[in-house]
Amino acid sequence: MKGIVLAGGSGTRLAPSTIGMNKHLLPVYDKPMIYYPLSVLMLGGIKDILIISTPEDIPHFQDLLGDGSAFGINLHYKKQSKPNGIPEAFILAEEFIGHDDVTLILGDNIFYGQGFTTLFRKALNHHRHATIFGSRVKDPERFGVVEFDDHQKVISLEEKPENPKSDFAVAGLYIYDYRAVQIAKQLPYSDRGETEITDLNKAYLKGNQLDVQLLGRGFAWMDTGTHESLFEASEFVKITQQRQGFKIACLEEIAYYMGYISKQSLHQKGESMRKTDYGQYLMEIANRKHTEQYWETIDKNPILELVKNE
Ligand code: TTP
Repeated sequence: MKGIVLAGGSGTRLAPSTIGMNKHLLPVYDKPMIYYPLSVLMLGGIKDILIISTPEDIPHFQDLLGDGSAFGINLHYKKQSKPNGIPEAFILAEEFIGHDDVTLILGDNIFYGQGFTTLFRKALNHHRHATIFGSRVKDPERFGVVEFDDHQKVISLEEKPENPKSDFAVAGLYIYDYRAVQIAKQLPYSDRGETEITDLNKAYLKGNQLDVQLLGRGFAWMDTGTHESLFEASEFVKITQQRQGFKIACLEEIAYYMGYISKQSLHQKGESMRKTDYGQYLMEIANRKHTEQYWETIDKNPILELVKNE
């Protein structure tokens, strides 16, 4: 399974903050936005990840994340010259995908909740041709909307419908087989001059090859594309982290618990940021001496329940 984080776009809804800076490098509380989607792919066990962004911004992502070895993963980069639509990611990634399955996550989407990793891993394991994730929202008319029957079989998909047939929006996380590349190449351009991910999903639906995985009550799905939603997401992360004492989307922590990086590397990384709570947190994890203490922490840490279960 390959992974893609789509982190280009124009970020017009976040101006002026995005005039000189890529949206996905802006902080969501205590870490850059792109850490959140990257953490999802890492928790899914995906190690080969392509970051797609604008030609001007790729060097900034490379400065931040390098080749991924600091997190025990392999990061690759690809330029998207213009925001021509989400499905273009598959065309740009054709060589990278080869004949593998691929998971795409939008760079401004945050997924969080008890059991999310387990649910995501199950979706990856049971994946047939195309799997999308549906999340209940108050304003479905703003999103791609999925209608499904009692057996979670998808009946219809509509992009920003005036009269939505369900309250479930399609979240920015998609799993496909390699045929997504060829399908993406044939998609028409919509009125806004982009190809649409809903059209790609409709192509799979037509062949009865689209599955939906619902995110229940306990999950938070947020996109951080406006000032309001970015601020809300930051508040959510701050409050959750302070209450529970562990961090959301801490890539080094995930890499350590997944067995990708050593205790020494974790400590060194913390040391390099020791003036921050983030750095202190990494050192604290690296300094834990007893295995019991270690597992006890994992028990309380929903993002890591999976590692224990395996
Ligand atoms: P959007 O929210 O549709 O667009 P945007 O990020 O350019 O922002 P704005 O509407 O404020 O101008 O994009 C969703 C995500 O997908 C976001 O993380 C950017 C990314 N994206 C690309 O990288 N390339 C694309 O061609 C498109 C359409 C989106």
